[in-house]
Amino acid sequence: MLLDIRNLVVELPVGRELRRIVADVSLGIREGESLALVGESGSGKSMTTKAITRTLPDGAQVSGEVLFDGKLVGAMSKRELETYRREQIGLIYQDPRAHINPVRRIEDFLLEGLLLFDRRPRAELRRVISDLLAEVGIADPDRCLKSYPHQLSGGMLQRVAIAAALSTEPRLLLADEPTTALDVTTQAEVAQLLKQLQARRGLAVLFITHDLDLAAQICDRTAVMYAGRIVEMQPSRTLYASPAHPYTRGLLQSRPSVDRRYERLPTLPGSPTPAYEAPAGCPFAPRCADRMPVCSTYVPHLTRHGLAELACHLGAGAPGGN
Ligand SMILES: Nc1ncnc2c1ncn2[C@@H]1O[C@H](COP(=O)(O)OP(=O)(O)OP(=O)(O)O)[C@@H](O)[C@H]1O
Ligand SMILES: [Mg+2]
Repeated sequence: MLLDIRNLVVELPVGRELRRIVADVSLGIREGESLALVGESGSGKSMTTKAITRTLPDGAQVSGEVLFDGKLVGAMSKRELETYRREQIGLIYQDPRAHINPVRRIEDFLLEGLLLFDRRPRAELRRVISDLLAEVGIADPDRCLKSYPHQLSGGMLQRVAIAAALSTEPRLLLADEPTTALDVTTQAEVAQLLKQLQARRGLAVLFITHDLDLAAQICDRTAVMYAGRIVEMQPSRTLYASPAHPYTRGLLQSRPSVDRRYERLPTLPGSPTPAYEAPAGCPFAPRCADRMPVCSTYVPHLTRHGLAELACHLGAGAPGGN
């Protein structure tokens, strides 16, 4: 495994209290593999990525293990951590405008990180970033390099941010809702671009999204998160065709579809719960139409059933499960 997360728990201080945000996350990503992490707002997706880069807010309490290429991220020295973040991981965020200095040209933005560590002459590095811009689908790289961020559209700027993330040739790309702030057409283009780059460069990708359809289009496997836990993980194809967890089924049913007509779109009753407000037992139980008495008492743990990993007391016998 390139990335191996085992029983991650993250608690954050709020006033005098410690709030559990990630309750139990275990997942692995192999070299060159893409995994989507899907879940509603507040389910703990971003805090999981921050645990991977060790950039959680001050005062965070972490237990469990994050291993990168067999190395414990929690045990890295300051220097190892810097190298790990710079050379192994590429980060892509939801809003590129918030992460790109608005008063500097794209050329300076892309070069500033590289010049610190790469000894090649500036002219050569400029060629490298110009090629990268072409690779991420920017038609006129030279013009783009001379531009300021406000002169570029959101989609172009996200491509620039992707080029920046790739410039150090990372092995793992962490993309936290990289398409959410874009219009629908651009969203699909950027998602396809990530998929192409992953295949071409043999990148491992953790793709975070609210959107199960997008996850299935882009990623080999999909993990569904609820209240700080992974409740189901499957190859995207089989998850889509035969979701096993009642929550995943609810999510898939509540998507509008162009080929179906509805009296009313089916919705999941109730609202998502953050981990620190989760009841005893299965956090999804209060909203689950299939709940049994055991569900309110014991937390179901992620166990393997064929291709699927599932945290549900209904197990492989869940209606519609496989
Ligand atoms: N600095 C912080 N201190 C305390 N709690 C925080 C802090 N930042 C976020 N939270 C809490 O963590 C929870 C969300 O975690 P996270 O940001 O990982 O969710 P998410 O799944 O990424 O959600 P979204 O889809 O909205 O991005 C929320 O309940 C939020 O209030
Ligand atoms: Mg988030």
